Parts: sequence; C-alpha cells; structure tokens
Amino acid sequence: MDLQLLINRTNVRGESSSSLSENFCKPNKCSVFRLGVLVSGSGTNLQAIMNACRNKRVPAKVIIVISNKKDALALQRAKKYNIKSGFIDPKKYNFDKKVIEILEKQKVDLVCLAGFLLKLSKKFIKKYRNRILNIHPALLPKFGGKRMYGINVHKAVLEAGEKNSGCTVHLVDERYDHGKIILQKKVKVLKNDTPETLQKRVLKQEHKIYPEAIKLFIKRCL
Ligand code: GRF
Repeated sequence: MDLQLLINRTNVRGESSSSLSENFCKPNKCSVFRLGVLVSGSGTNLQAIMNACRNKRVPAKVIIVISNKKDALALQRAKKYNIKSGFIDPKKYNFDKKVIEILEKQKVDLVCLAGFLLKLSKKFIKKYRNRILNIHPALLPKFGGKRMYGINVHKAVLEAGEKNSGCTVHLVDERYDHGKIILQKKVKVLKNDTPETLQKRVLKQEHKIYPEAIKLFIKRCL
C-alpha cells in the first residue's frame, strides 16, 4: 500500500516514540475502542469508518455521531447502522459544552472529525488533547487554514499548478489544520483535472486512509 506513514517517526523535538506515545492519548480501559464522530455534511468518511469497524478492519466501534447541521446526510447514515446520533444547534446551545457532556457520558476514547466544519473551542481541544483526529483533502501543511475546505482546497491546488495533491489525517490542535500528521496519501493531479474531478479522486483515498489512521492510533494507544 502506497501510504506515507508518519506516525512512527521520531518527532521534531527528537522525543523517542515511547515518550511520545505516553502523552499521545489516554484511552479508557475497555475492550472496544469507542469512537465519537463529528460531522456536518454527506458523511462519506463516516461511512468508511463505520464499514471498517463493522468488518473488523479497525478494532473500534462508532458509539455516537453528532452533527451541527440538522439535515446532514451523515445522520441518516448513522441511523441506518443503528448508531446513536443527533443534531445540536450551535445557535441555540453551547455546542462544544454539549458535545463534551455527550462524549463523556458515552465514554468516547477518540473523537473523529469527518467533514466537520466548525472550529472547536480551546476548552474542547484541551479536554481531548491528542485524542481528536481530522481529515483534510490536501497534503498538509500545504493548502490548509481558515478558508481551505471543500472545493476551495482543490481550486487552490489547481491554481497553484501543483503536480500532486492528496489527503491528510492529523491530530487536531488549536490552529486550523495544524496538528501532528498521522497519515498522508498522494494523488496525482491530471492535466485535465477540474476541482471536481480532483476532489472525487482525493475523496476516494480519504476513505482508505481515515480508517487506517484510526487503526494506527489505536495500536499506539492500547
Ligand atoms: C472531505 O473532503 C473531508 O476531507 C472534508 O470534508 C469533505 C466531506 O467529507 N473535511 P464527507 O463526505 O462529509 O465525509
């Protein structure tokens, strides 16, 4: 598999992998690794994660799916798989506070952002430090940041005349698209690519690397 694996490398400060793994995550001492997935849209990455858990490619279970958008297709996908799911209206509630309450109640070990478009608060990130993953449709650190989401990313890649694009799974910290990179996959930019055709090919790879990255994360945590 042509996956660019970065998780096992010594980090920039030269810490050994064991000292790094000690503060990497703090899973609950339970047999199944419990995932909470935050979504805003179509949920194709959620689907890939649920499938991988179901057929035991990933030793985990999606326990809860939470959306900040009422009509997110992702919620229907969760429902179809009998997974607890719900919409929290950020206009009515303190979204992050509510989500923390739910994740705590559900004893979630790892939070996966899958097409989730809200920026999480510092408080949230502190609470789940090193236990939040995100997927981004480009080769970070390139083409990340505040306005870099959805089709904008692929437009920017084509405008910059890049030969390659791809996708990245990374840990989430306080800055947009900034935390430690777990896994990346390159996708060649083709001569006749439009933002839409590139997006489609990148998305296909996202569905492969997200479950793979979760598996790697679990291996280091258990
Ligand atoms: C994906 O490209 C993902 O990288 C980004 O949002 C897009 C939509 O994903 N964060 P999904 O179909 O909702 O999983």
